[in-house]
Amino acid sequence: MPKHIRRLLLLFAVLITLFIIVRQVLIPDSFGQFGHYRGLALEENKAHVARYVGTDICAECHWETMELKTADMHAEISCETCHGPGWKHIEEPEQGQLTIPEGREFCGTCHSRNPARSASLIAQVNLSDHNIETNCSECHNPHAPWN
Ligand code: HEC
Ligand code: HEC
Ligand code: HEC
Ligand code: HEC
Repeated sequence: MPKHIRRLLLLFAVLITLFIIVRQVLIPDSFGQFGHYRGLALEENKAHVARYVGTDICAECHWETMELKTADMHAEISCETCHGPGWKHIEEPEQGQLTIPEGREFCGTCHSRNPARSASLIAQVNLSDHNIETNCSECHNPHAPWN
């Protein structure tokens, strides 16, 4: 066999061995346990606490707020969209205090005029000239804006 072919074969052999060693080191132990992914990923996901609990649970205690909300234009918005994840509050309502959003900027996250938003899907106002003298919730109940 010519010398330069032998060198080439040797080079390939070294590269393939290196590849096998690196692969061995990099692939997690539980890879392939169930399929073409890391088996432990399932355990890790299972261990995550569900931070959002859903609006139905809030309604069990705050049914008046829920009724108010259901009857008006914020009906589709989940309580936790505005008040944050409720899991702690559900377990200990007095301890797990939720945030109470305040200020015009908060409502503005959805309602400030923005050409990138469709005005036919969500009503928009110019935050710097729509009734600037007071907070939004003085006129619009956050749970039922036209109530
Ligand atoms: C087991 C009954 C119960 C459930 C379920 C419940 N709450 Fe409450 N919530 C309370 C009580 C009790 C208070 C305290 C009332 C008070 O201080 O006047 C409270 C107070 C609040 C407050 C006022 C701020 C605070 O943290 O004290 C907000 C906002 C709130 N709840 C939102 C929610 C949302 C959103 C959900 C659903 C994720 C929810 N609650 C589910 C009982 C409950
Ligand atoms: C669009 C945002 C938004 C949604 C959705 C929303 N809230 Fe609120 N919530 C607020 C704001 C803002 C305040 C503070 C009101 C104020 O300053 O007078 C508040 C206040 C509260 C309070 C304090 C007492 C009161 O009534 O003012 C409770 C309790 C509460 N919300 C529960 C809920 C529950 C339960 C839901 C779902 C049924 C919900 N909220 C949905 C924005 C929201
Ligand atoms: C998470 C996004 C979101 C937040 C935050 C939010 N809204 Fe809304 N709001 C909506 C959607 C969606 C509608 C129903 C679609 C629409 O705009 O007509 C709506 C409807 C309204 C309407 C009726 C508009 C109409 O067409 O007649 C008013 C008024 C309003 N919201 C005021 C507020 C105020 C005040 C706050 C702050 C306390 C607030 N919203 C916070 C999403 C939001
Ligand atoms: C002084 C009372 C008052 C305050 C404060 C106020 N609004 Fe209004 N808002 C109104 C009235 C009245 C209308 C209906 C007439 C109009 O469109 O101006 C309205 C209309 C709206 C509409 C519907 C616009 C449309 O095109 O249909 C939205 C959305 C809205 N307001 C959001 C807000 C937000 C967000 C804030 C706080 C940044 C706020 N408002 C503060 C009284 C108020």
